[in-house]
Amino acid sequence: MSLSNLEIVARYLAAPGKGILAADESTGTIGKRLEKMGLKNDEETRRSYRELLLTSAIGGSISGVILFKETLYQSTESGKTFVKCLVDQGVYPGIKVDEGLQPLEGGLEGETWTKGLENLAAMCAEYAKVGAKFAKWRATIKIQPGGPSEKAILQNADELAQYAKICQGAGLVPIVEPEILIDGDHTIGRSQEVTEKVLAATMAALWRHGVQLEACLLKPQMVLPGAECSDPKPSAEDIAKHTLTALRRTIPPALPGVMFLSGGQTEEEATVNLDAINRMARTTEPGCPWSLSFSFGRALQHSVLKFWSSDQSKGLDVQQLLMSLARANGLASRGQYTGPHPTSAEGSASLYEGFRGWRADQITS
Ligand code: 13P
Repeated sequence: MSLSNLEIVARYLAAPGKGILAADESTGTIGKRLEKMGLKNDEETRRSYRELLLTSAIGGSISGVILFKETLYQSTESGKTFVKCLVDQGVYPGIKVDEGLQPLEGGLEGETWTKGLENLAAMCAEYAKVGAKFAKWRATIKIQPGGPSEKAILQNADELAQYAKICQGAGLVPIVEPEILIDGDHTIGRSQEVTEKVLAATMAALWRHGVQLEACLLKPQMVLPGAECSDPKPSAEDIAKHTLTALRRTIPPALPGVMFLSGGQTEEEATVNLDAINRMARTTEPGCPWSLSFSFGRALQHSVLKFWSSDQSKGLDVQQLLMSLARANGLASRGQYTGPHPTSAEGSASLYEGFRGWRADQITS
């Protein structure tokens, strides 16, 4: 695929009114969520849950779905590949290509680097053959007293850029995800400061490695205070202001789209904040050159999984729920959300799962 085709894919993914469903939880992460809902973490349960997601009529508001590699090769019960289910409704299949977080030697407590560069070129070529059009790589940065360290910022930026360059060479649009974790008691101001530092380092690394920004997407977190911050909760407008300031100071206009992760916000908060970001981007000077949309995991799936786990015979109703959440976020990406979600009671539960970085007993991704 030539670079101009990659640009077309990147623009398609960031098309106005559409966003990405992140359904690429690793076996460990999806397992924890399934088990929390009383379900088994076996291959058939994962396949059947993902069949429900991928056969929903989401094409009106979803431009791409990020899959875990197991899912990329799976099919519906009746034998249609998941890739074909997506392509048939104009949704691009994507693939998570990182192999999870590792402790960063010489870094501060809890700092990580992301594994997966060794065989990446060969893996990307293989995934492209099966039909993947884009890829995702998640790096995490932890705010703490004296941190993040320079080493954590620079190493993760450089690895994100190496990944992005390899993807473009293999015909996949890279989604670059430098997630600043919500864990901690930092203020929203500190979160903005670190976001600017991390995004500036990431953009510099992308430039150094010759990544074509027009064929690349960014997946950052919204600028939020830490989950344990004692300040009063900021309004959606405050969050929008801090987020847009950080982006305007660091992201070149060549990049077509900023696709936010939900990062532990409730379903309602993630949508309301995305909506506020888009309203502000349209009404303040200077304007914003990029599409500002979503690449949500938990904020699109939490109620869906909860509903499905309580009654698996209600597949069609569960799919309606996913479609309605996707539609609402599509509206928010245009600054036209009128809310609340029909699942508002469900969706008001915090989706913060505690530290999603690295701990000695687990590698999460
Ligand atoms: P959340 O929206 O649940 O934060 O997940 C998005 C994602 O893809 C994290 O890598």
